[in-house]
Amino acid sequence: MSDSNATDFNNPSTFILLGIPGLEATHVWISIPFCTMYTIAILGNFTILFIVKRELSLHGPMYYFLCMLAVTDLVLSTSILPKTLSIFWFNSREIDFRACLTQMYFIHCFSAMESGIFVAMALDRYVAICHPLRHSTILTNRLVAKMGLAVVLRDGLLALPFPFLARRWPYCTTNFIPQSYCEHIAVVKLACADIRISSYYSHFVVFSVIGLDVSFIAMSYTQILRAIFSLPRKDARLKTFGTCGSHLCAVLAFYFPGLFSFLTHQFGHNVPPHFHVLIANM
Ligand SMILES: *[C@@H]1O[C@H](CO)[C@@H](O)[C@H](O)[C@H]1NC(C)=O
Repeated sequence: MSDSNATDFNNPSTFILLGIPGLEATHVWISIPFCTMYTIAILGNFTILFIVKRELSLHGPMYYFLCMLAVTDLVLSTSILPKTLSIFWFNSREIDFRACLTQMYFIHCFSAMESGIFVAMALDRYVAICHPLRHSTILTNRLVAKMGLAVVLRDGLLALPFPFLARRWPYCTTNFIPQSYCEHIAVVKLACADIRISSYYSHFVVFSVIGLDVSFIAMSYTQILRAIFSLPRKDARLKTFGTCGSHLCAVLAFYFPGLFSFLTHQFGHNVPPHFHVLIANM
């Protein structure tokens, strides 16, 4: 009935990414830290891959997982940053609907994979510290490959419904996404339909993936810390902690901004929108 003047928006062929709404004037300045971090991430992660490939002494479970993490990081940041930077630099805000759905799939699939790899690494550290003598018989190359495959399958499948759900909905009011990349909830919020299934599904994924992974990592670290504190000598404690300290830092740096972003989305209704977007980008 009242659809007549809205039809030209129905199933739009492109979306418009607004970048960081409210901070358009400073896009060029914001691009400097983003571009710097992206360059460092690309160089750093390729360096990891290169070094692990060359050094035979690094051909072990911990470094294989590190390589998986580096590949995931490379894919994840490359599916977000080039488009974000081109919005900042060239104001190229348009994105094809299918490109948007593809980007959505990559973002959700690879951020969940990152989480899965952190679990695999925590398991490796748990066995290495709590059952050091059995480490090489438990974490064989076969098991490492199987764990990698399990992560890829779990998250490849879990992320699949996101673009399909987003494609189902009619978009008839606006096609402006107040974000710098196509993320599931940001896109389906624009739909003029009851998007409850979409929002249930993303909550389900957040709680099942992040919830399970975090509890698993927490369990591993409880055991690890217990083992470390039962060591009699301080230098032995420090040395053992040194083999998992960087993993723990990476885990905290990965989950905390995500948790923060999730909480401000749920409860922070008077937080300015550009703050959400900046945190999400970080
Ligand atoms: C690998 O990439 C991620 C971002 O995707 C970054 O946070 C991390 O620091 C990078 N690693 C190195 C060693 O540069």
